[in-house]
Amino acid sequence: MLTTEENEILTRVGPDTPMGRMMRRFWFPICTSAQLPEPDSDPLRTSLLGENLVVFRDSDGQVGVLEELCMHRGVSLALGRVEKGGIRCLYHGWKFAADGTILDTPNHCNARFRQRMKAPAFPVREAGGLVWTYIGPKDQQPPFPHYAFLDGPAEHRAVIRLNTPANYLQLFEGGVDSSHVGILHSNQANPTWMDDEFTARDDEDFNPGALASGDNAPTLDVEDTAFGFHYVAKRQGPPAADGSATHSVRITPAILPVTRIIPAPAFQFFVFEVPQSDTVTSTYIIAHGPKPIDRAEIIRIMGLKEPFWNDEDCDFRATWADGLGQDRSRMTTSWTGFDGIEQEDAVLAISMGPILDRSKEHMVAADRAVIHLRARLLESVRHHEEGHDPIAHGIDLTHVRSLPDTVIAADDHWRDLVPGNVDAGAITTAETAQS
Ligand code: FES
Ligand SMILES: [Fe+2]
Repeated sequence: MLTTEENEILTRVGPDTPMGRMMRRFWFPICTSAQLPEPDSDPLRTSLLGENLVVFRDSDGQVGVLEELCMHRGVSLALGRVEKGGIRCLYHGWKFAADGTILDTPNHCNARFRQRMKAPAFPVREAGGLVWTYIGPKDQQPPFPHYAFLDGPAEHRAVIRLNTPANYLQLFEGGVDSSHVGILHSNQANPTWMDDEFTARDDEDFNPGALASGDNAPTLDVEDTAFGFHYVAKRQGPPAADGSATHSVRITPAILPVTRIIPAPAFQFFVFEVPQSDTVTSTYIIAHGPKPIDRAEIIRIMGLKEPFWNDEDCDFRATWADGLGQDRSRMTTSWTGFDGIEQEDAVLAISMGPILDRSKEHMVAADRAVIHLRARLLESVRHHEEGHDPIAHGIDLTHVRSLPDTVIAADDHWRDLVPGNVDAGAITTAETAQS
């Protein structure tokens, strides 16, 4: 349970809020590369932390991120023409390059004016199938972050975006809430739930709902790290050969301010809950593993399909007018009446309303990681407001990992299984220079 004031600090992300200021110190995905499929393709209108932006790919393939409204008199550039090295406003034809350089002002023939001024543009990187931007203070731009999924061939990676009308924290909390996996995602976690039996799934190495145990009241241990924290959900494991007790452990890192890594048997799911505004979140899911990945299969297990989602605008369209897409006639064989993991997570977040009032909850021990996430976010905001860098700022994330369900002896320590989490430190100068 939180005070109303704490809830406001955690959930409001605009430019004049403590959380908004803290989050502006980080790079974020702004769209997928696939949403700008070719040079001069249609521009995208989107938002980040309450600021409206237009994203476009110029004739050379360079991506630009500009404030949405034209610097001349405020028409949306998302209506503009993308052509010959820039984006041109429909109203009076002012044209801007990806870096904001003013290339043309047909109704004002003064070259010096064009040289003196620049359209508000933000730094851009394209990596890992995503376009990233940084909208924070210019003199505090951090090194570009490095995650494991940025390495290796593109076919080992599947990138999916989903825009959900709910505050980012509702979605992020679900990502550090292991105890819901075996219940909400029953059909993915335990295909024999209808018979009150547990059967571990071993047929899908990309299933993040795969659990090795039917124990739905895991014990949670949390440990702080330089990027935020990681936690383990310990479930009862099968007895060892000598009869001694074991644990099935599942480890999830929470990388502040908006990221976690969810384990599947052979893949890692990097999930970013990027706030477009206080009440809309772009979830980016990057499934990454040691072999080629079938993106259509990932979309299937996520339960994402028409009419509630499409791959182009990526908006999740379920509303109460259509029962949020629930098919109750299927609930004899489907626990939820929904189609898959991400659909279930998104629908539940929407069902809480745009911004949940957390002063009315009744937390239990299984919510320990959720409680810790809030505490670490508040700590980071406080620290930042006092003039320090936020938690996770400039930390090398290359070796940060989740761990799928793994059986260990009851007296073994789970943290020894993820040394890259425990040892994560600052990005070195050499890495900074390369990025
Ligand atoms: S408003 Fe864009 S050119 Fe005039
Ligand atoms: Fe979930």
